[in-house]
Amino acid sequence: MDLFEKRAMALGLSLVMMFFGLVVYAAKGLQAELPTCLPNARLFQNGRVVEVGPNRYQVDAVAFMWSFDMGQGNTIRIPRGATVDFYVTSRDVMHGYHIDKTLVNLMAIPGAVTYTRVKFDRAGEYQIVCHEYCGLGHQNMAGKVIVE
Ligand code: CUA
Repeated sequence: MDLFEKRAMALGLSLVMMFFGLVVYAAKGLQAELPTCLPNARLFQNGRVVEVGPNRYQVDAVAFMWSFDMGQGNTIRIPRGATVDFYVTSRDVMHGYHIDKTLVNLMAIPGAVTYTRVKFDRAGEYQIVCHEYCGLGHQNMAGKVIVE
């Protein structure tokens, strides 16, 4: 093995170790929730927003061509500082569920439920977009979280 190969391997190994360290830091230091697929979760066909505790909410979001049903149409309103559990599924084909300015980046999969949790510390409007090409109306598929 020549010197170039050794250096390339050392660089590769150190990058892997650095990425692993950053993942551990994000999980522990920043308490970032990784999105999860819940294969045994109850399936649902209709969206809703439920207040489950003091400033805690659960959002069931159903994606379909070409909008999101979150119980109040495609827009939800929550107070500042709310912690929200998002459960996302699809009625038809695979869609995406990305909330701008957050780490929420879920797949909406027919027959499955994906999950993540996010805390909204800042008031404002957060655009929800479908980030998975799902057909002719894909570019119009959007929703909104309004944090008051
Ligand atoms: Cu739904 Cu793209």
